Amino acid sequence: MSKRMMIDDVRDQYAGVAKGALSNESTAVRSIASAFGYSQDELNQLPAEANMGLSCGNPLALAGIREGEVVVDLGCGGGMDVFLAARSVGSAGRVIGIDMTTEMLERARAGQQKLGLTNVEFHQSTIDKLPLPDNSVDCVISNCVINLVSDKLAVFREILRVLKPAGRVALSDIALKQELPSEVKQSVEAYVGCISGAVLIEEYRSLLEQAGFGSVVVTDTGADLNAYAMASDSGCCGGACDSEGKSLHDGLASVMQSFDANAYAASVRVHALKQASTGSVNTIPVLNVQPISKEKTMKTVQVYDKPMCCSTGVCGPDVDPVLPKFAADLDWLKNQGHNVERYNLAQQPQAFIENKEIHHLLSTAGTDCLPVVAVDGEIVSQTVYPSREDLAGWVAGVPAKQLLPVAKPSGGCCGTSGCC
Ligand SMILES: C[S@@+](CC[C@H](N)C(=O)[O-])C[C@H]1O[C@@H](n2cnc3c(N)ncnc32)[C@H](O)[C@@H]1O
Repeated sequence: MSKRMMIDDVRDQYAGVAKGALSNESTAVRSIASAFGYSQDELNQLPAEANMGLSCGNPLALAGIREGEVVVDLGCGGGMDVFLAARSVGSAGRVIGIDMTTEMLERARAGQQKLGLTNVEFHQSTIDKLPLPDNSVDCVISNCVINLVSDKLAVFREILRVLKPAGRVALSDIALKQELPSEVKQSVEAYVGCISGAVLIEEYRSLLEQAGFGSVVVTDTGADLNAYAMASDSGCCGGACDSEGKSLHDGLASVMQSFDANAYAASVRVHALKQASTGSVNTIPVLNVQPISKEKTMKTVQVYDKPMCCSTGVCGPDVDPVLPKFAADLDWLKNQGHNVERYNLAQQPQAFIENKEIHHLLSTAGTDCLPVVAVDGEIVSQTVYPSREDLAGWVAGVPAKQLLPVAKPSGGCCGTSGCC
């Protein structure tokens, strides 16, 4: 199948989905979205046309979107992630939805009108050539779309181009655990159904790195791809009828019956950062911190984390959105020339014992004092992850606020986290 035919097939099939009856008012459609990480509260905020049960994750759970940011959603469909992100960026921010399919954008604009959102805009384009200026976006999100594009490297390069320095990408997508059986690989239904255009998890990571991204994390969420079957006659990338009324899912359902989708494919969560250019000035508006030029101004920032599954805590099924944002802020510090050391109680307990102050804090306050951040050995914060503005201030010599003692929880040494 040629590249042109594939993109035309995808556009035709999704135009059919958009013209069909699937909506956020259908229990089946809502259960698909819930299975892939949306809360009832999030779903209740959406207009009917926004959700067609086409997602394969919830990229907002990882994006850590902040007020005032510019966010772009690639392949926005009916606009569900755009509308949810619009609440987080507020009136000072902007969310831009991009999709190539006219009928999808019609749905999205109808939903925007219902919600009366003025901080949202939609543009028609393929995602390998974005109608956006260089260095203009804080965060790019996308949900179950990049698998549908044959030239993924071109998409990743385009994302990198539009992101501001230190900008981030937070994606939900399908990737492969192992090569697909050849009959599935050849199937048009499996392609438009978001399966056979997917690449191996390792290749996904490597394409992002090839495009120039840093801190790339690709994680299998473990979500059951058969969730789509919960809704009879509906499902991701397949839960709808084309213009002739034939369910797109019919084709995908028969492909899914022929093999165990969960053994070959996974719903993945992807997070990556555009490097802040070395020597660039601080991109935070709050403090005008100049880049480090002399070795003596370089600080060592130490972070002592609660027990986590990995060094940054962004690999589990339920990622606290603060964690990828904090990891991005630490990368930013490194790019400014500072030393960053990060210790996780589950993986490097020795570091907690060897540092006398941390050891003392832990023995008096328990693990509730974590995370603790120290700059050049002086503890500057405890119990919460500080903002980038705070970090920038501390390394520039702004004194930390006086720290309040953390009460040792009664009933044991482990605190509420229950680990020691
Ligand atoms: C599986 S749906 C996901 C829609 C939406 N992200 C959601 O979660 O509801 C895929 C969407 O991507 C769009 N799409 C697919 N390939 C595209 C491309 N190359 N450029 C732009 N949009 C594309 C389709 O039109 C469709 O709306």
